[in-house]
Amino acid sequence: MAFDRRPENMERITTPALADAFIKEQIQELRTQIGDKKVLLALSGGVDSSVVAALLIQAIGKQLVCVHVNHGLLRKGEPEQVIEVFRNQMNANLIYVDATDRFLDKLAGVTDPEQKRKIIGGEFIEVFAEEARKLDGIEFLGQGTIWPDILESEQGIKAHHNAGGLPEDMNFQLVEPVKILFKDEVRMVGKQLGLPDNMVYRQPFPGPGLGVRCPGAITRDRLEAVRESDAILREEFAKNGLEGKVWQYFTVVPDFKSTGIKDGKRTFQWACIIRAVNTTDAMSATVENIPYELMCHLVDRITHEVPGINRVLYDFTPKPTGTIEFE
Ligand code: XMP
Repeated sequence: MAFDRRPENMERITTPALADAFIKEQIQELRTQIGDKKVLLALSGGVDSSVVAALLIQAIGKQLVCVHVNHGLLRKGEPEQVIEVFRNQMNANLIYVDATDRFLDKLAGVTDPEQKRKIIGGEFIEVFAEEARKLDGIEFLGQGTIWPDILESEQGIKAHHNAGGLPEDMNFQLVEPVKILFKDEVRMVGKQLGLPDNMVYRQPFPGPGLGVRCPGAITRDRLEAVRESDAILREEFAKNGLEGKVWQYFTVVPDFKSTGIKDGKRTFQWACIIRAVNTTDAMSATVENIPYELMCHLVDRITHEVPGINRVLYDFTPKPTGTIEFE
Protein backbone atom coordinates (compact mmCIF):
# COMPACT_ATOMS: atom_id res chain seq x y z
CA MET A 1 0.00 0.00 0.00
CA ALA A 2 1.07 3.59 -0.57
CA PHE A 3 2.32 5.51 2.45
CA ASP A 4 1.48 9.14 3.13
CA ARG A 5 4.04 9.33 5.89
CA ARG A 6 7.32 7.58 6.48
CA PRO A 7 6.54 4.55 8.69
CA GLU A 8 8.31 4.84 12.09
CA ASN A 9 9.99 1.48 11.62
CA MET A 10 10.98 1.89 7.97
CA GLU A 11 14.49 0.59 7.33
CA ARG A 12 16.89 3.20 5.92
CA ILE A 13 17.64 2.44 2.27
CA THR A 14 21.40 2.00 2.45
CA THR A 15 22.05 -0.86 0.01
CA PRO A 16 21.36 -1.49 -3.68
CA ALA A 17 19.10 -4.42 -2.69
CA LEU A 18 16.91 -2.21 -0.48
CA ALA A 19 16.76 0.41 -3.24
CA ASP A 20 15.72 -2.26 -5.77
CA ALA A 21 12.96 -3.45 -3.44
CA PHE A 22 11.69 0.12 -3.02
CA ILE A 23 11.74 0.67 -6.80
CA LYS A 24 9.82 -2.55 -7.48
CA GLU A 25 7.17 -1.68 -4.94
CA GLN A 26 6.85 1.92 -6.13
CA ILE A 27 6.45 0.89 -9.76
CA GLN A 28 3.48 -1.30 -8.79
CA GLU A 29 1.95 1.50 -6.72
CA LEU A 30 2.44 4.09 -9.45
CA ARG A 31 0.77 1.83 -12.01
CA THR A 32 -2.18 1.31 -9.68
CA GLN A 33 -2.50 5.03 -8.87
CA ILE A 34 -2.11 6.31 -12.42
CA GLY A 35 -3.75 3.61 -14.53
CA ASP A 36 -3.81 4.72 -18.16
CA LYS A 37 -3.77 8.45 -17.34
CA LYS A 38 -1.00 10.97 -18.03
CA VAL A 39 1.44 12.60 -15.61
CA LEU A 40 3.16 15.96 -16.08
CA LEU A 41 6.53 16.61 -14.45
CA ALA A 42 8.75 19.69 -14.27
CA LEU A 43 12.16 18.14 -14.75
CA SER A 44 14.93 20.47 -13.61
CA GLY A 45 17.73 17.93 -13.78
CA GLY A 46 18.18 18.13 -10.00
CA VAL A 47 18.38 14.90 -7.99
CA ASP A 48 14.79 14.74 -6.77
CA SER A 49 12.97 15.50 -10.01
CA SER A 50 15.37 13.28 -11.97
CA VAL A 51 14.73 10.31 -9.69
CA VAL A 52 10.96 10.87 -9.89
CA ALA A 53 11.25 11.01 -13.70
CA ALA A 54 13.30 7.82 -13.85
CA LEU A 55 10.82 5.98 -11.60
CA LEU A 56 7.83 7.17 -13.62
CA ILE A 57 9.50 6.25 -16.91
CA GLN A 58 9.90 2.69 -15.65
CA ALA A 59 6.35 2.60 -14.31
CA ILE A 60 4.34 4.27 -17.08
CA GLY A 61 6.75 5.07 -19.95
CA LYS A 62 5.27 7.54 -22.42
CA GLN A 63 2.30 8.36 -20.19
CA LEU A 64 4.79 10.64 -18.45
CA VAL A 65 5.35 14.05 -20.02
CA CYS A 66 8.48 15.81 -18.73
CA VAL A 67 8.96 19.52 -19.25
CA HIS A 68 12.47 20.90 -18.93
CA VAL A 69 12.45 24.68 -18.76
CA ASN A 70 15.83 26.24 -19.48
CA HIS A 71 15.65 29.64 -17.82
CA GLY A 72 19.10 30.56 -19.13
CA LEU A 73 20.50 30.40 -15.60
CA LEU A 74 21.58 26.75 -15.63
CA ARG A 75 25.17 25.56 -15.37
CA LYS A 76 27.21 24.73 -18.44
CA GLY A 77 26.08 21.43 -20.00
CA GLU A 78 23.00 20.94 -17.81
CA PRO A 79 20.17 21.24 -20.36
CA GLU A 80 22.18 19.09 -22.77
CA GLN A 81 22.57 16.39 -20.11
CA VAL A 82 18.86 16.37 -19.31
CA ILE A 83 18.09 15.84 -23.00
CA GLU A 84 20.79 13.19 -23.39
CA VAL A 85 19.81 11.16 -20.32
CA PHE A 86 16.05 11.37 -20.47
CA ARG A 87 15.21 11.72 -24.16
CA ASN A 88 18.07 9.81 -25.77
CA GLN A 89 18.93 7.16 -23.19
CA MET A 90 15.65 6.63 -21.32
CA ASN A 91 13.41 7.34 -24.29
CA ALA A 92 11.21 9.69 -22.28
CA ASN A 93 8.54 11.99 -23.56
CA LEU A 94 10.47 15.23 -22.97
CA ILE A 95 9.45 18.74 -23.91
CA TYR A 96 12.44 21.08 -23.89
CA VAL A 97 11.68 24.78 -23.63
CA ASP A 98 14.50 27.24 -24.15
CA ALA A 99 13.06 30.28 -22.39
CA THR A 100 16.42 32.04 -21.93
CA ASP A 101 15.43 35.23 -23.76
CA ARG A 102 12.15 35.51 -21.88
CA PHE A 103 13.83 35.27 -18.49
CA LEU A 104 16.80 37.50 -19.30
CA ASP A 105 14.58 40.17 -20.87
CA LYS A 106 12.40 40.26 -17.74
CA LEU A 107 15.46 40.39 -15.50
CA ALA A 108 17.22 43.16 -17.44
CA GLY A 109 18.07 46.06 -15.14
CA VAL A 110 16.64 44.38 -12.00
CA THR A 111 19.11 44.69 -9.13
CA ASP A 112 17.16 43.71 -6.02
CA PRO A 113 17.87 40.06 -5.07
CA GLU A 114 14.35 39.28 -3.86
CA GLN A 115 12.84 40.90 -6.93
CA LYS A 116 15.12 38.77 -9.11
CA ARG A 117 14.01 35.60 -7.27
CA LYS A 118 10.34 36.57 -7.67
CA ILE A 119 10.71 37.19 -11.39
CA ILE A 120 12.53 33.88 -11.93
CA GLY A 121 9.99 31.90 -9.85
CA GLY A 122 6.96 33.62 -11.40
CA GLU A 123 8.20 33.28 -14.96
CA PHE A 124 9.02 29.62 -14.37
CA ILE A 125 5.45 28.87 -13.35
CA GLU A 126 4.11 30.84 -16.30
CA VAL A 127 6.25 28.95 -18.83
CA PHE A 128 5.39 25.61 -17.23
CA ALA A 129 1.66 26.42 -17.14
CA GLU A 130 1.75 27.47 -20.81
CA GLU A 131 3.24 24.11 -21.75
CA ALA A 132 0.72 22.26 -19.57
CA ARG A 133 -2.18 24.02 -21.30
CA LYS A 134 -0.98 22.77 -24.68
CA LEU A 135 -1.37 19.17 -23.52
CA ASP A 136 -4.54 17.10 -23.43
CA GLY A 137 -5.66 14.65 -20.80
CA ILE A 138 -3.15 15.33 -18.03
CA GLU A 139 -4.60 14.32 -14.66
CA PHE A 140 -1.53 14.05 -12.47
CA LEU A 141 1.40 16.26 -11.54
CA GLY A 142 4.65 14.54 -10.54
CA GLN A 143 6.59 16.13 -7.68
CA GLY A 144 10.05 15.58 -6.26
CA THR A 145 8.91 16.14 -2.67
CA ILE A 146 11.14 14.36 -0.16
CA TRP A 147 10.62 13.54 3.53
CA PRO A 148 12.65 16.50 4.93
CA ASP A 149 10.45 18.87 2.83
CA ILE A 150 7.39 17.53 4.64
CA LEU A 151 9.03 17.64 8.08
CA GLU A 152 10.32 21.18 7.56
CA SER A 153 6.99 22.48 6.37
CA GLU A 154 5.27 20.86 9.36
CA GLN A 155 7.78 22.50 11.69
CA GLY A 156 7.21 25.83 9.97
CA ILE A 157 10.87 26.09 8.90
CA LYS A 158 10.00 26.54 5.26
CA ALA A 159 6.89 26.46 3.20
CA HIS A 160 6.53 23.23 1.29
CA HIS A 161 6.38 25.07 -1.99
CA ASN A 162 6.09 22.07 -4.28
CA ALA A 163 2.88 22.31 -6.28
CA GLY A 164 2.53 25.87 -5.07
CA GLY A 165 1.94 28.62 -7.54
CA LEU A 166 0.27 26.84 -10.43
CA PRO A 167 -2.88 28.64 -11.63
CA GLU A 168 -5.98 27.55 -9.73
CA ASP A 169 -7.77 26.05 -12.72
CA MET A 170 -4.92 23.57 -13.10
CA ASN A 171 -6.25 21.02 -10.73
CA PHE A 172 -3.89 18.08 -10.84
CA GLN A 173 -3.67 15.17 -8.44
CA LEU A 174 -0.18 14.81 -7.04
CA VAL A 175 2.19 11.91 -7.61
CA GLU A 176 5.04 12.04 -5.11
CA PRO A 177 6.87 8.70 -5.24
CA VAL A 178 9.90 9.71 -3.13
CA LYS A 179 8.10 11.66 -0.46
CA ILE A 180 8.94 9.24 2.36
CA LEU A 181 12.65 9.15 1.50
CA PHE A 182 15.62 11.03 2.89
CA LYS A 183 18.05 12.60 0.42
CA ASP A 184 20.66 9.84 0.72
CA GLU A 185 17.95 7.27 -0.01
CA VAL A 186 16.79 9.23 -3.07
CA ARG A 187 20.38 9.12 -4.35
CA MET A 188 20.64 5.37 -3.75
CA VAL A 189 17.37 4.82 -5.63
CA GLY A 190 18.56 7.11 -8.47
CA LYS A 191 21.75 5.14 -8.84
CA GLN A 192 19.82 1.86 -9.04
CA LEU A 193 17.56 3.41 -11.68
CA GLY A 194 20.64 3.99 -13.83
CA LEU A 195 21.02 7.75 -13.53
CA PRO A 196 24.60 9.01 -14.05
CA ASP A 197 26.70 9.69 -10.94
CA ASN A 198 27.10 13.38 -11.68
CA MET A 199 23.31 13.71 -11.58
CA VAL A 200 22.78 11.54 -8.50
CA TYR A 201 25.59 12.96 -6.36
CA ARG A 202 25.52 16.51 -7.52
CA GLN A 203 25.92 19.46 -5.18
CA PRO A 204 22.90 21.56 -4.25
CA PHE A 205 21.98 24.19 -6.81
CA PRO A 206 19.50 26.98 -6.07
CA GLY A 207 16.27 27.28 -8.05
CA PRO A 208 17.18 30.79 -9.30
CA GLY A 209 20.40 29.22 -10.56
CA LEU A 210 23.31 31.33 -11.73
CA GLY A 211 21.03 34.36 -11.40
CA VAL A 212 22.00 34.74 -7.72
CA ARG A 213 25.68 34.33 -8.63
CA CYS A 214 25.59 37.26 -11.02
CA PRO A 215 24.91 39.88 -8.30
CA GLY A 216 23.01 43.00 -9.25
CA ALA A 217 21.45 43.40 -12.67
CA ILE A 218 22.16 40.31 -14.80
CA THR A 219 23.83 40.93 -18.15
CA ARG A 220 24.45 38.20 -20.70
CA ASP A 221 28.21 38.73 -20.82
CA ARG A 222 28.68 38.63 -17.04
CA LEU A 223 26.34 35.63 -16.79
CA GLU A 224 28.52 33.85 -19.36
CA ALA A 225 31.59 34.66 -17.22
CA VAL A 226 29.86 33.04 -14.22
CA ARG A 227 28.92 29.97 -16.28
CA GLU A 228 32.40 29.50 -17.76
CA SER A 229 34.28 30.06 -14.49
CA ASP A 230 31.88 27.68 -12.69
CA ALA A 231 32.56 25.01 -15.34
CA ILE A 232 36.33 25.39 -14.82
CA LEU A 233 35.95 25.18 -11.03
CA ARG A 234 33.81 22.04 -11.28
CA GLU A 235 36.23 20.43 -13.75
CA GLU A 236 39.24 21.12 -11.51
CA PHE A 237 37.47 19.97 -8.33
CA ALA A 238 36.55 16.72 -10.09
CA LYS A 239 40.11 16.20 -11.36
CA ASN A 240 41.58 16.90 -7.92
CA GLY A 241 39.35 14.61 -5.87
CA LEU A 242 37.26 17.38 -4.31
CA GLU A 243 34.00 16.53 -6.10
CA GLY A 244 31.73 14.78 -3.62
CA LYS A 245 34.00 15.86 -0.75
CA VAL A 246 33.23 19.58 -0.71
CA TRP A 247 29.56 20.25 -0.05
CA GLN A 248 29.03 23.21 -2.39
CA TYR A 249 31.36 25.21 -4.62
CA PHE A 250 30.78 27.80 -7.27
CA THR A 251 31.89 31.14 -8.66
CA VAL A 252 30.36 34.59 -8.43
CA VAL A 253 31.06 37.54 -10.71
CA PRO A 254 29.90 40.82 -9.16
CA ASP A 255 29.31 43.95 -11.18
CA PHE A 256 32.69 45.44 -10.31
CA LYS A 257 35.77 46.04 -12.44
CA SER A 258 39.40 46.57 -11.57
CA THR A 259 42.58 47.31 -13.45
CA GLY A 260 44.91 44.53 -14.57
CA ILE A 261 47.36 43.52 -17.31
CA LYS A 262 46.92 40.86 -20.00
CA ASP A 263 49.41 40.27 -22.80
CA GLY A 264 51.26 43.46 -21.83
CA LYS A 265 48.12 45.58 -22.14
CA ARG A 266 46.08 47.35 -19.50
CA THR A 267 42.71 45.70 -18.82
CA PHE A 268 39.70 46.87 -16.88
CA GLN A 269 37.67 43.76 -16.14
CA TRP A 270 35.61 41.85 -13.57
CA ALA A 271 36.89 39.90 -10.60
CA CYS A 272 35.67 36.31 -10.20
CA ILE A 273 35.06 35.12 -6.63
CA ILE A 274 35.44 31.43 -5.74
CA ARG A 275 33.23 30.04 -2.95
CA ALA A 276 33.71 26.52 -1.55
CA VAL A 277 31.97 25.53 1.68
CA ASN A 278 31.19 22.55 3.88
CA THR A 279 28.08 22.09 5.97
CA THR A 280 25.62 19.44 7.04
CA ASP A 281 22.40 21.43 7.03
CA ALA A 282 23.26 24.70 5.19
CA MET A 283 22.33 26.66 8.35
CA SER A 284 26.01 27.28 9.05
CA ALA A 285 29.05 26.56 6.89
CA THR A 286 32.84 26.50 7.03
CA VAL A 287 35.23 27.38 4.23
CA GLU A 288 37.09 24.60 2.40
CA ASN A 289 40.89 24.73 2.63
CA ILE A 290 41.68 24.60 -1.10
CA PRO A 291 45.33 23.55 -1.65
CA TYR A 292 47.51 26.51 -2.63
CA GLU A 293 48.73 24.91 -5.90
CA LEU A 294 45.19 24.17 -7.00
CA MET A 295 44.19 27.73 -6.17
CA CYS A 296 47.03 29.08 -8.35
CA HIS A 297 45.98 26.77 -11.18
CA LEU A 298 42.35 27.92 -10.89
CA VAL A 299 43.42 31.57 -11.00
CA ASP A 300 45.55 30.88 -14.06
CA ARG A 301 42.78 29.06 -15.94
CA ILE A 302 39.97 31.43 -15.04
CA THR A 303 41.91 34.62 -15.85
CA HIS A 304 43.15 33.19 -19.17
CA GLU A 305 40.12 31.24 -20.35
CA VAL A 306 37.15 33.32 -19.25
CA PRO A 307 36.53 36.48 -21.27
CA GLY A 308 36.14 39.58 -19.11
CA ILE A 309 37.94 38.30 -16.00
CA ASN A 310 41.35 39.63 -14.94
CA ARG A 311 41.35 38.81 -11.22
CA VAL A 312 40.26 35.90 -8.99
CA LEU A 313 39.46 36.17 -5.27
CA TYR A 314 38.68 33.50 -2.65
CA ASP A 315 35.81 34.13 -0.27
CA PHE A 316 37.08 33.11 3.16
CA THR A 317 33.88 33.99 4.99
CA PRO A 318 32.06 31.29 6.98
CA LYS A 319 28.29 31.26 7.47
CA PRO A 320 27.56 33.22 9.57
CA THR A 321 28.44 35.98 8.84
CA GLY A 322 28.16 35.37 5.10
CA THR A 323 25.35 33.32 3.63
CA ILE A 324 26.45 30.59 1.23
CA GLU A 325 25.08 32.39 -1.83
CA PHE A 326 25.80 36.08 -2.43
CA GLU A 327 22.18 37.06 -2.92
P1 XMP B 1 22.26 30.56 1.84
O1 XMP B 1 22.75 31.47 0.75
O2 XMP B 1 20.94 31.00 2.40
O3 XMP B 1 22.00 29.16 1.15
O4 XMP B 1 23.29 30.34 2.92
C1 XMP B 1 21.74 27.95 1.83
C2 XMP B 1 21.52 26.86 0.80
O5 XMP B 1 20.30 27.11 0.09
C3 XMP B 1 20.57 27.31 -1.30
N1 XMP B 1 19.73 28.42 -1.77
C4 XMP B 1 18.60 28.29 -2.48
N2 XMP B 1 17.98 27.20 -2.99
N3 XMP B 1 16.33 28.59 -3.96
C5 XMP B 1 16.86 27.37 -3.72
O6 XMP B 1 16.30 26.38 -4.21
C6 XMP B 1 16.89 29.73 -3.49
O7 XMP B 1 16.39 30.82 -3.72
C7 XMP B 1 18.08 29.56 -2.72
N4 XMP B 1 18.92 30.44 -2.10
C8 XMP B 1 19.91 29.72 -1.54
C9 XMP B 1 22.05 27.61 -1.40
O8 XMP B 1 22.58 27.24 -2.67
C10 XMP B 1 22.61 26.80 -0.27
O9 XMP B 1 22.79 25.45 -0.64
